Amino acid sequence: MITRLIRCPTEEDLRLAGVTVRAGGLVAFPTETVYGLGASALDRRAAARVYTAKGRPSDNPLIVHLPRADLAGQIARVSSTFDALARAFLPGPLTVILPKKEVIPDEVTGGLPTVALRVPEHPLAREFLAQCDVPVAAPSANTSGHPSPTAADHVLHDLGGKIEMILDGGSCRCGVESTIVKVEEDALLLLRPGAITPKMITAATGLPVLDRTWVVVAPGETPLAPGMKYRHYAPRARVILLRGNREAILAFLRARAGDPTVAILSDGEDMATIAPDRTISLGDRTDPVSMAHRLFAALRALDDREEITTAYAAMPPEEGVGEAVANRLRKAAGNQILDVK
Ligand code: TXA
Ligand code: MG
Repeated sequence: MITRLIRCPTEEDLRLAGVTVRAGGLVAFPTETVYGLGASALDRRAAARVYTAKGRPSDNPLIVHLPRADLAGQIARVSSTFDALARAFLPGPLTVILPKKEVIPDEVTGGLPTVALRVPEHPLAREFLAQCDVPVAAPSANTSGHPSPTAADHVLHDLGGKIEMILDGGSCRCGVESTIVKVEEDALLLLRPGAITPKMITAATGLPVLDRTWVVVAPGETPLAPGMKYRHYAPRARVILLRGNREAILAFLRARAGDPTVAILSDGEDMATIAPDRTISLGDRTDPVSMAHRLFAALRALDDREEITTAYAAMPPEEGVGEAVANRLRKAAGNQILDVK
């Protein structure tokens, strides 16, 4: 199959993308978080093709995207808590897990009785979703296990030849995937941290947000978000997270600066000068937004350097979207954290 990469999609291109999705095709599109791989959420066969293209295990459900929050009732049983979330954050980088309606086939939800619902705010995403005129199931548009794509070229690298079309909308503003919450009777469960933080969610709903992002799952049990049990974001090189005071971290890196197989994922000027030709920028640690924006491109850049077998990064400050950055880095590192003194 030849994948069409459309650099500056026109209205006509978006119309054609909509036709493609309704006909069972796969179209990658930009959102404010990461690129999604879109397929009709009403079409079992299209959903099955998404799993094949990504190499994704079929028990890991897809997020269903809509152009507007007021359409949520078409696919899920909404509640006053959902309404409060929608008023405060949608369209935006938040995914809400709700009881699903029958129209959504089991292939999309991995057999779960719930559906993940998202209304992205990226103008191109909204225009594309409106043109589709059906709910659109869309996981991140990467090969399963790779870092999520934050540019159209990342999608082409992973899925070129496997999908019909890629809509290029430039680099994604947030850079980490949406916050996922599950709505319960008198609380919300945080399944994946993102740009919308627990503090913001509690302020909007008056409900506590319980952290379920690192639940240990016994063998054979189903985790709340099935995606949590799979290896994620892993570049070829081993990623190791360093925790400790800044001086100790810099000294640790200086001691390894001469090793040609070591790369530094730098989060500041002081770190960037240690081994400049083997440094990849992770933004600036005083600005978590810049780190979120750079994170996945930095992990992908590691794969372009064949000589690199180990990459070090400092544990980022877990404030605001920094919590999401830390969560993704821990996954990339297989939760390998080294305390340096
Ligand atoms: O920002 C995002 O959310 C991006 C863009 C494209 O919208 N999408 C995305 O999708 O990150 P994906 O498939 O890479 O991650 C979806 C996560 C998985 O961990 C999956 O297990 C979880 O959402 N999920 C989906 N449906 C669920 C459900 N019904 N219950 C619990 N978790 C669910
Ligand atoms: Mg993903």
